[in-house]
Amino acid sequence: MRTESKPIHLIDMHSHFLPGIDDGCKTPEESREVLRLSRKQHVRLMVGTPHYYSDKPVAQFLTERRVALEKVLDILTPDVRWPMIRLGAEVYYRPSLFREDRLPELCYEGTHFLLLEMPFSTWSPNILRDVERISAVYGVTPVIAHIERYLKQQDRSIIDELMNMDVLIQINAAYVLNCYPSFRVRHMIRDGIVNILGSDCHNLEGRGPNMGPMMEKMLEWGMGEELRDIRDQSARVLGLM
Ligand SMILES: [Fe+2]
Repeated sequence: MRTESKPIHLIDMHSHFLPGIDDGCKTPEESREVLRLSRKQHVRLMVGTPHYYSDKPVAQFLTERRVALEKVLDILTPDVRWPMIRLGAEVYYRPSLFREDRLPELCYEGTHFLLLEMPFSTWSPNILRDVERISAVYGVTPVIAHIERYLKQQDRSIIDELMNMDVLIQINAAYVLNCYPSFRVRHMIRDGIVNILGSDCHNLEGRGPNMGPMMEKMLEWGMGEELRDIRDQSARVLGLM
């Protein structure tokens, strides 16, 4: 069922297009191609969210991120329309993360929303308490990155508890495209569980930009309204609405 033909402008809230800073794009040229393909797929704003593993000081990470961005901006020619770029980070959970003084600086630029990558183990109640402390200590709202990757390892009760916390939920475009049976992801979206969408793209091959095919799939499912809604939530998170 596809009821609309017009593409929807998208915001990609999770990507690793910045070059040479994590396991994402390796060169500015690769980054430029990722941006070009993303724009072709109707992405109008792309947030670069390199991994932060607490293996270096926050200040160093922020400097490296700025330098990586400048390398890309240097080779973007003005005759082409590029997506707008914003900065963020995908911060990996650690038990004492809430003690990191400069944590708010890792939020989506200019916001109090932090893209948080959870451990790929079974979560104990203590882990959820730590996530709550992040909000309590800094007034920062965690955005749980690609929740779909953790669902199998967790007890239903832990997921229910997380959903009742002051967090936002992000899923990857690949989940929309590959979830089988697809009713799982469709229900998650229809029930309003999904707040944020991102490509989590890393490169041109294997983990390339895929927001466009995701949109096609959602339009096929008659979920244009839901997609706009999620896009608008992203715009609000970034302070654009
Ligand atoms: Fe990621």
